Amino acid sequence: MNHSQIEKNVGLMAILVVVAISFGGLVEIVPLFGLDETSDPIEGLEPYTALQLEGRDIYIREGCHVCHTQMVRPLRAEVERFGAPSQAGEYIYDHPFLWGSKRTGPDLHRVGTREYSDEWHRKHLIDPRSVVPKSNMPAFAFLLDAKLDGKSTAAKMKALTRVGVPYTEEDMKGAKEAVEGKSEMTALIAYLQNLGQAYRKTQVIQTRQKDEANK
Ligand code: HEC
Repeated sequence: MNHSQIEKNVGLMAILVVVAISFGGLVEIVPLFGLDETSDPIEGLEPYTALQLEGRDIYIREGCHVCHTQMVRPLRAEVERFGAPSQAGEYIYDHPFLWGSKRTGPDLHRVGTREYSDEWHRKHLIDPRSVVPKSNMPAFAFLLDAKLDGKSTAAKMKALTRVGVPYTEEDMKGAKEAVEGKSEMTALIAYLQNLGQAYRKTQVIQTRQKDEANK
């Protein structure tokens, strides 16, 4: 069968296109499962604390990921603005990951390392225009009054252990106490301030290792 016959037969063409794309996809994707770089956490990565975990759930509930990505691409404009490109090993404990796809606001994957104080975040979330006059981000002031009861925090951690997040019994025991009575705002800010910290810690560890090797 030659090429012109395939091109004239739409059904056959469709099937062969699917086969070709599937094969190409598998060749690209399958090897990644076996690479340490893509399947192991980076050195400085730790599971979210109870409070950060609740904050992450609020981030998801409020749809922050609809306007904000968490993936710094290796493009000059992004690296200069947000920091080093994101690495696969930074997302290992994220279930689900929050890469996002729409960049209405800035990328937030390294926002915790951008030297914003908790107070800045609080002001910004209560009224974005009070700190960034032209912002079109919605206000989230109601998060101040919503209090966490921590009833399901330990259960959430337990569920995450099933997919490989290394929470200990002790983490789970202290979970309720760590979040009970805190506002949703506090939890969300704790989560935001942690974004990018694992990468920063890994850089410190690696620099130290290099220094030691050079001694
Ligand atoms: C409708 C789109 C939209 C939604 C939804 C949204 N944001 Fe934003 N966000 C923006 C825009 C636009 C900016 C840039 C202007 C500014 O700083 O306010 C921004 C800025 C930010 C910044 C400052 C980032 C930086 O590097 O300066 C943070 C932090 C932030 N948003 C967090 C959040 C959180 C947390 C939520 C969910 C509770 C959220 N945003 C929901 C649009 C949005």
